[in-house]
Formats: sequence, C-alpha cells, structure tokens
Amino acid sequence: MEQELKDPGLKGRAALVLGGSRGIGAAIVERLARDGARVAFTYASSPDHAAARVAAIQAAGGEAAAFQADSADADQIKAAVDQAVERFGRLDILVVNAGVLTMGTVEQLSIADFDRLVAVNVRGVFAAIHHAAPRLADGGRIVTIGSNSAERVAFAGGGSYAMSKAAVATLVRGAAIDLAPRRITVNNVQPGPTATDMTSGLDELVKPLIPLGRMGETREVAGLVSYLVREEAGFMTGASLTIDGGYVA
Ligand SMILES: NC(=O)c1ccc[n+]([C@@H]2O[C@H](COP(=O)([O-])OP(=O)(O)OC[C@H]3O[C@@H](n4cnc5c(N)ncnc54)[C@H](OP(=O)(O)O)[C@@H]3O)[C@@H](O)[C@H]2O)c1
Repeated sequence: MEQELKDPGLKGRAALVLGGSRGIGAAIVERLARDGARVAFTYASSPDHAAARVAAIQAAGGEAAAFQADSADADQIKAAVDQAVERFGRLDILVVNAGVLTMGTVEQLSIADFDRLVAVNVRGVFAAIHHAAPRLADGGRIVTIGSNSAERVAFAGGGSYAMSKAAVATLVRGAAIDLAPRRITVNNVQPGPTATDMTSGLDELVKPLIPLGRMGETREVAGLVSYLVREEAGFMTGASLTIDGGYVA
C-alpha cells in the first residue's frame, strides 16, 4: 500500500523549458528541478539571470543547464533541443514558455511589432514542438504557456497578443491528436495577470478586475505545470487550463 501511494515525482526525467531565466519560466524551472527532473532552459538576453538560476539549482543538489536561444529563430530552438538531448541523453518534458507582450490597437501596432509578436508567440511555439517532438521519449509531455486573453481580450490594444495566444490553444489541440499515438500529451496553461517583469506596474490596474482580488504568483502557475508533466496526468491532452483568479469566469 505504501508503495502505491508513493509519488514518483519527476526523478529520472529530463526537461527543456524555453524562456526559463525570469518570471513564470524561472518558477517552472525551479519547480521541475525540485520535483527531481534534470532541467535545461533557454533565455534570450539575460545571461546573468540564467547563470544565477543554474547555480541555485546546482547548489540545492539538482542538475540544470542554460542555453541562449531566441525563440523567434527556429534554428536556435532546434540547437537548444539538440543541446538538451546531448546533455541529458534523453528528453521527456518540453515547456514552451517564452513569449512577448506587445500592446497596441489595430491602428497603432506596427507591422514590424506584429511580425515579432507572431514570430515568438506563434511560430516559436510551432518550431519548438516541431523540433522537440521527434526527440521526446514516448509518453513524454509538452506544455505551452498561453494566456487567459485567448478567452477574452477585455481591453483596447490587447487584440494581437490575445490572437497569438488563441493560436497556441488551437495548435495544442491539433498537436495533441498528432502525438497521441506515441502517448505524448500536449496541454496549454493560460495564466491571467501574474506578478512578473512583464506585468510590473499593472497590478493596481488589474486587481479590481480579478474576483480573487489579487494577481497570480509564478509558483501557482508552476504548480499546475508540475501536475501536467507527471505520470498521473497521462489522460489529459489537448486541454487549455485557465489559471487567473476568476478573471474570465
Ligand atoms: N505575467 C503574466 O501576467 C502573464 C499572463 C498570461 C500569460 N503570460 C505568458 O507567460 C509567459 C511568461 O511570461 P512572464 O510574465 O514570465 O514574462 P517575463 O517576465 O517577461 O519573462 C519572459 C521569459 O521568456 C524569455 N524570453 C522572452 N522572449 C524570448 C525569446 N524571443 N526567446 C527566448 N526566450 C525569450 C525571457 O528571457 P530573457 O530573460 O533572456 O529576456 C524570460 O526568461 C509568456 O508566454 C507570457 O505571454 C504571462
């Protein structure tokens, strides 16, 4: 009985988190490492944050590695996947967290800014799944970080970002079907306003809109990801799970 109740955690698993140096991605990296996984992660422009994150995990007895890779560049994503597999000898978990928040009404947002938004938030997610899927072990896990704005735009200037996250939710449903024969699950976590660099200064604006009266914490999003990548979540796939204090309820 004791044996059956024991949680196997993520011991022996190898994970790659795209965009793991700060914010929600950093909390996911830390949580997966605490759960026992070996964790590689990418960053775009903050090597110091990345190095500190690796050092903290190693000091706690875990195994971590950081690679620079711009999620707007599919070749760099492929290189990060290859480096993770080379480092750990296997890949069980892919978390696609890297994303940018670009605001602007349909009249204001420049074509260049729109292209960059789509390159990171949509093309980057496809490239990550495309390049990682063949390297993932059967029964592996893919989790994307979308946004509750895929469900409701709510304010002027948020439409293009919301569109990018709605695209992710739909891609996840298709990828879940495509990868089901190999028992690889694909799910999408949709946070609402969560306290990170991305949302600094927004808390007083959004708090009144959130029924639970506060912004989310990065560790709360990481806890949901931790569940989705476990063995016991093996029957959930193609789902988008909103974690937003009731914002779009
Ligand atoms: N915070 C929120 O309220 C909220 C709500 C809903 C959804 N989300 C989504 O959650 C994800 C994380 O958001 P966050 O608030 O944690 O953002 P953040 O604090 O700005 O951190 C973003 C992370 O992604 C990395 N990143 C950004 N652009 C990248 C690129 N082109 N290539 C590789 N890595 C890149 C950053 O690396 P560097 O350190 O090198 O810049 C950093 O590690 C995003 O997909 C975002 O859309 C956030």
